[in-house]
Amino acid sequence: MIITPDFIPHPWRPICSVSRTGDFIVLSWEDGKKLEAYSLWLAENSPQDAIEPSSRESMLEPLDLPEPADLQQVDIDEEGALLLVWQGRPRQRFHPGWLYAMACNEIQPECGLPVPRPWIAAERQEPVTTNGERVLETPAVLQQWLSDMVEHGVARLRGLPATEGILEQVVGKIGPIRSTNFGGIFTVKTVPNPDSTAYTGINLGQHTDLPTREVPPGFQFLFCVANTVTGGSSRMTDGLALVAALKKEQPEAFEALTELNWVFMNRAQGAQHMWVGPIIELAQGGRPLTIRAFYPVRSCPNMPTEDQPRAYAAMKIFSRYAHDANYQMSYPFQPGDLVGFDNRRILHGRDAFDSNGERHLEGCYLDHDDIFSTLRVLNR
Ligand SMILES: [Fe+2]
Repeated sequence: MIITPDFIPHPWRPICSVSRTGDFIVLSWEDGKKLEAYSLWLAENSPQDAIEPSSRESMLEPLDLPEPADLQQVDIDEEGALLLVWQGRPRQRFHPGWLYAMACNEIQPECGLPVPRPWIAAERQEPVTTNGERVLETPAVLQQWLSDMVEHGVARLRGLPATEGILEQVVGKIGPIRSTNFGGIFTVKTVPNPDSTAYTGINLGQHTDLPTREVPPGFQFLFCVANTVTGGSSRMTDGLALVAALKKEQPEAFEALTELNWVFMNRAQGAQHMWVGPIIELAQGGRPLTIRAFYPVRSCPNMPTEDQPRAYAAMKIFSRYAHDANYQMSYPFQPGDLVGFDNRRILHGRDAFDSNGERHLEGCYLDHDDIFSTLRVLNR
C-alpha cells in the first residue's frame, strides 16, 4: 500500500505513460486524463520521505526541498505507480489514484459536496425532511440531512424527542457550536426587556443573522421544544434564487446591492460587533455567497452621498423580492423539529404570534467549515 497525503480512499488508477518536460512530470491515463506535476510539489508529497504516516501531513519545510536539478530518474512501475529518484534521497513511489484525482481537479473544497441548487416556492413549500429518530446512532441519517442542507440551503429533521439538550447532542455529531454574544445554545422565546427583536412575538422580516461579523455564522439550527401559539410560522427565502432573479430582472438594483457598502453594528448593552460590506457579497474565488440583510443592525451607509438614494431604492426592491410569496416557503414548527439552514444564503423570518401559548425554540450556529468537513468525511 502507498499512503497518500490525505485520508481519501482513492481507487488505484494505473498511469499509462510518463515523460518529463523541464521540471514538470507529465502523466497520462488510459482515458486521456493528463497531469503536469511540478517536481518539487511531488517531492513534498513523497510517501517515502515527506509525508508523516499517521497525520498524512508533509514534514518538508520549503528550505528542505531538493533542487529541481536533483531529479535524476522518472519512471512508472509494473503496477502503474509513479517512481522518482532524486540525488541522495530514497526512491519515491506515488499512488496513481491520488495523482489521477489531481488530474481530475478533485482536490478542491467543493468536491465531495452536493452542488447548491436554488429553489423557488413553486418547487419547495417546506424544507426537505428526514426522519430524525435515529440520527444519533445512524450516520446515514446525519449524512442525508447535511447533504440536503448544503444542496437546498435548508433541511429538516423531524421526530426528535422534544426535550432540551437534544439540539446540543445532535449538532455535537457535526462539530463545535459557534458561540456568539447570544451564547452557545440560545433560547428563542418571549422574555421581558429583550436585547433582540427575536425575543418578542412580533413579525420578523426576512433576514440573515449576525451580518455584524466579518464572517457571519455559516449555518443556523432551530429546534422546537414546544409550540402552542397561534401564528409564528417560519419563513425561508432562498438567497441563491433571489440573487439570480435580481441580476436578471433588476440589474440596477443588483449593482447597488452588490457594490455599495453599509456599516453593520449590533446594539447590545455588552457588545459592539461591527463590519462593513454590501447587502449581497457574491460568491467568488471559492468564498460562498454572503447576504448581509438584517435591518435592526444595519447602522449607516458607507458610500458617497450621491449613491444613497439608489442604495435605498435597491434595498426596497431586495426586500420586496425577499418577501414575495413566489420565493418563500412558510411552515409551522412542530415539537421535535430541527431545521438547519445556511445563514449566509437563506433569508429567514417569522410571522407574528400571540403570547397566550408557549413557543420555545432552541438555536445555535455552526460554521460552514465544520458542516462541509463532516459531510466530506461521511461521503468518503
Ligand atoms: Fe434570525
